[in-house]
Amino acid sequence: MRDPRRVAILISGRGSNMRALAEQADDYEVALVASNKPSTAGLQWAKGRGFRTWSLESKGMDKETFDRRLSDALSEAEVGTIALAGFMRILSPWFVSEWAGRILNIHPSLLPKYRGLDTHARAIAAGDLKSGCSVHIVTEELDAGEVLGQAEVPIRAGDTAAALEQRVLAEEHRLYPKVLSEFVRR
Ligand code: GRF
Repeated sequence: MRDPRRVAILISGRGSNMRALAEQADDYEVALVASNKPSTAGLQWAKGRGFRTWSLESKGMDKETFDRRLSDALSEAEVGTIALAGFMRILSPWFVSEWAGRILNIHPSLLPKYRGLDTHARAIAAGDLKSGCSVHIVTEELDAGEVLGQAEVPIRAGDTAAALEQRVLAEEHRLYPKVLSEFVRR
């Protein structure tokens, strides 16, 4: 059984949640920062901070081939828990079953509302009075696994999706390290 406190953070983009997780790592350690986008800014930041990194361009590669290479890199770094943080790929059923119960994700809505993309615009268009973010276990069904923690953000009159995104993002950066710490302790 691998140590759950050895965490890998998977990113595809700017990686602001990855930075929050790395900077607030208390009960866990960042064993690897991995990406399917080798030139992404978040990966450069992680390298600069001395974190172990791994990347492989996923474009044009068969999904399961990529996922098997990723899984090998995670095993090599003795990772026990995987935190998806803006990892813009749906993982293969093979990968999800290989790492079952050990993959977390942060999603910018109050699940089960608004699975998938464009969550802020959808919450505003629906006339919701609040939105927020959720940390959940990753299962084969998109954004549908057990919710481990949520933070709410009020939606203001005249809010744009971009303004709401910024306020939700600030909550994501508080919520994710807290929930991940709780998860690795349980
Ligand atoms: C965040 O909105 C997160 O909720 C979603 O993807 C975005 C990642 O942003 N899963 P960042 O790369 O962490 O800045």
